[in-house]
Amino acid sequence: MSISFNEKTRVFRLDTVTTTYAFCIHEAGFPLHLYYGKHLPDDDLKHLLGRGMFTSFSPDVPGFSHTGFSLDVQPQEFPGFGTGDFRASAVEIQNADGNCATDFRYVSHNILKGKPDLCGLPHFRDENGESETLVLCLEDRATGAEAQLLYTVYNDLPIMTRSVSVTNRTEKPLRIQRLASLCLELPTMDYDMIHLYGKWGKERTETRRALTHGTQSIESRRGSSSHNHNPFVALAAKDSAEEHGEVYGAALVYSGNFKIECEVDAFNTARLLMGINPDGFSWLLGPNETFTAPEAVFTFTDGGLGEMSRIFHRAIRKHLLSGPWKDRERPVLINSWEAAYFDFDDDKLAAFAKEAKSLGIEMLVMDDGWFGHRDSDDSSLGDWYVNEKKLKGGLGSLIERIHAEGLKFGIWYEPEMISPDSDLYRAHPDWCLHVPGRENSPARQQYVLDMTREDVRDNIFAQMCDVLSKNEIDYVKWDFNRNLTEVGSAALPPERQQEVFHRFVLGTYDLMDRFVKTFPNILFENCSGGGGRFDLGMLYYSPQIWCSDNTDAIERLTIQFGTSLCYPLSTMGAHVAARPRTPLSTRAAVAMMGTFGYELDPRRLTDAEKDEVRAEIRAYHETHRLVSEGDLYRLISPTQDPFRAAWQVVSPDKTETLVTTVVMRMPETMYFPLRLAGLDPEKRYTDLATGETYSGALLMYAGINLTGRLYLDGQSAVLDFKAE
Ligand code: GLA
Repeated sequence: MSISFNEKTRVFRLDTVTTTYAFCIHEAGFPLHLYYGKHLPDDDLKHLLGRGMFTSFSPDVPGFSHTGFSLDVQPQEFPGFGTGDFRASAVEIQNADGNCATDFRYVSHNILKGKPDLCGLPHFRDENGESETLVLCLEDRATGAEAQLLYTVYNDLPIMTRSVSVTNRTEKPLRIQRLASLCLELPTMDYDMIHLYGKWGKERTETRRALTHGTQSIESRRGSSSHNHNPFVALAAKDSAEEHGEVYGAALVYSGNFKIECEVDAFNTARLLMGINPDGFSWLLGPNETFTAPEAVFTFTDGGLGEMSRIFHRAIRKHLLSGPWKDRERPVLINSWEAAYFDFDDDKLAAFAKEAKSLGIEMLVMDDGWFGHRDSDDSSLGDWYVNEKKLKGGLGSLIERIHAEGLKFGIWYEPEMISPDSDLYRAHPDWCLHVPGRENSPARQQYVLDMTREDVRDNIFAQMCDVLSKNEIDYVKWDFNRNLTEVGSAALPPERQQEVFHRFVLGTYDLMDRFVKTFPNILFENCSGGGGRFDLGMLYYSPQIWCSDNTDAIERLTIQFGTSLCYPLSTMGAHVAARPRTPLSTRAAVAMMGTFGYELDPRRLTDAEKDEVRAEIRAYHETHRLVSEGDLYRLISPTQDPFRAAWQVVSPDKTETLVTTVVMRMPETMYFPLRLAGLDPEKRYTDLATGETYSGALLMYAGINLTGRLYLDGQSAVLDFKAE
C-alpha cells in the first residue's frame, strides 16, 4: 500500500497490494482521472488522457484554447456543473448570487498515515495503522467554496474509501445542491451494471444489465436506503462471471436517500457517481461552515464477482463492524414475533424460554407488543414503558423468569417512530416530521419522529436508557417500519427544509452512537420491516441486520445470495420459522448461512423435530466460526439456476469447508456432480459424515458426486470437509 505524488508529472498514485488508482493535476488545476484497475508498475500514465478531436460543442477551459482542453471530454475526479462538462456532475453549489456554475481546482494536498474519523457519519475504520490517506484540497474561486477529497488505501485489502467535504470560505451563505461521494471514470462502456433491487419480503435480488448510452441509475427517495434498491453497485466486464473477470464494486456508507448513476457519453466512456440523492436535498452552508458527505468504499478485482464479494466481506468484518460482538459467537436466539405476534404475556414467554432452553437455544427476544397499550400495530410507539397488563409484575420480573430458565433476554424497539395513539404524540404533536397545512400520511398507523431535533432524540434516549440500564438486557432489535413522507421539521427555518432528509439520518446515527457507547455490551440487530435498511451505515452501529420478513427457506435463497454480493454472512439475520413448505433441516441449512435463530413456538414442535433442532444447534456451534470468518463461494446461484442453489464457505487457511446445497424445484436429472471452489488442490479433505477423503483437486476440478441426494423439492445437504 502506498500513496505517492510525482512533483514533476503531478501524478498521484494510490496503490493497494493488487490495484492502482491514479490521477493527475492538469496545468489548469483540474484533477483528471488516469486509471483504476490491476496494479501497474511505474509508468507514463498521462498519455492515457488523449481523447482525440472534439468540436465547439465541447467548450474549452478559459485560457486553454491553444491546447484544446475541454472538461466535457476529460475524465475527472470531481466534475463540477455548468462550466464545460455537460455530463452528470459530482458537485453543484449555488452561490449568493443565485448561480450554480462550479469548477474545483487543485490547491494543495497532504498524505497522512492512518484514516481520519468522519465526524457524525459512519465510516470504515483503521484501528491498527493499516492505512494511508490522501487529503486533496480544491477550491472554486468564483463561489469561494473549498473542497477536501479524502482517499484512503489499506495495506491488507484492495479496498479504497473516498469522502468529500465542502467548506464555505466566503462571507455569504452558499447552497450545496449536489455532492457525490464517489466519481469513478471508466474508459469504456463495456460493462454490465449489477445491482440489488427488491421490495418488502423480497429484498436485494441480483440484477444485471449492459451499460448503454445515456444514464442508468438506482436510487432511494424513501428516507432510508430501502427495500427497493440497495446502495451498492458492481460494474462487471461483459465476459466476467462469478470467479473470473474484471469487476469494480462500490457501496455507500449511508442509510438515507442515495443515488447511484452511471452515464455513458458520446465517447463511450462511463462515469459512475454515488452519493446522497440530490432529489429533495440541498444544504445551506454559512460562512466557515463545512458539510461532509458520506463515505463510499470501492474495490477492483479481476477475480470475478465472487472475489469482489470476498474483498468486501473481509473489509466490512475487519474495518467497519465494531464492539465486542464483532468477532464473538452470537447467541442462538428465539424471537417471539412469528411465534406469537402481539399475543403474548409473561407466562407464554416463560413457557417459550423453558422449551427453548431444552433445545439448546440461548436467548429469548421479546419482539413488538410489550410497551404502552400495544396489542396490535395501531398504537403506543414512543411510549417505551412496559405494558404491565401483559407482563404482570413488570419487565424485571419477566427477565428474572427468563434468566431462571437459563436464557439471555433481548427486546424490540422502534425508536424513530411515533403512533398518533400514544402519550408521546398527545404531549408533543409537533415532534413528528410534518409539513404545515398538510395532513400526515399514515403507514402502519404510525408517523415518523423528527430525528433532526435534539430534544426528540434526548427524550427517546432517556426512555430507552431507563429500561436498558435498569434491566439485564443483552440484545436490542432496532426496527424501522415505514418510509418518510411530509418531510418537514418544525425546528428548522424554511431555507433549511431541504436538509431534513439528511439531518434525519444524522439524527438517527447520533442516537445509535449514544446507545452503542452507553451499552457497549448489548448486541444490536438492525431491522426495517425485514431488510429495508440493510446498508453499511447501519452495520457501523450493529453487527447484524434482519435480512427479510420473508422466512421461507426457498425465498430466502435469492435474498441472502443477493445480500452476499456486498455484505458478509455474519451480518445477515436468518431464522428457522414455522414454514412447512421445506423440511426443518433445509430451513436450518439456509438460516445457518447467516446469524442463526428460531422464530416459532417451540412447544408446537414434535419430539422428532425437537431432536432435529438440538442437532442443528450443535451443528451451528461447530460451524459458526467458519461461517462468520470464512470465504464465501457462491457455487450455484438461485437466480441463474432454476433447480438448485449451492454455496460454500472455506476457512482462511483452506483446511475446512462447509458446502450447502438446496433443491428449489425438482431438477431435470438426478445426476449431480458439484464442483467446489477455493480449496488447496494438494490437500486431502475428509467428508466428516462419511469418512471418505478426496483431494482438493478432485473436489474442485471434477466435483463431489451428489447424485440422488439432491433431487426432491426442498431437499438440502450440508457437507463438512476437513483437511488432514
Ligand atoms: C417488522 C420486523 C419484524 C417484526 C415486526 C414487529 O416487520 O421486520 O421482524 O419485528 O416489525 O412489528
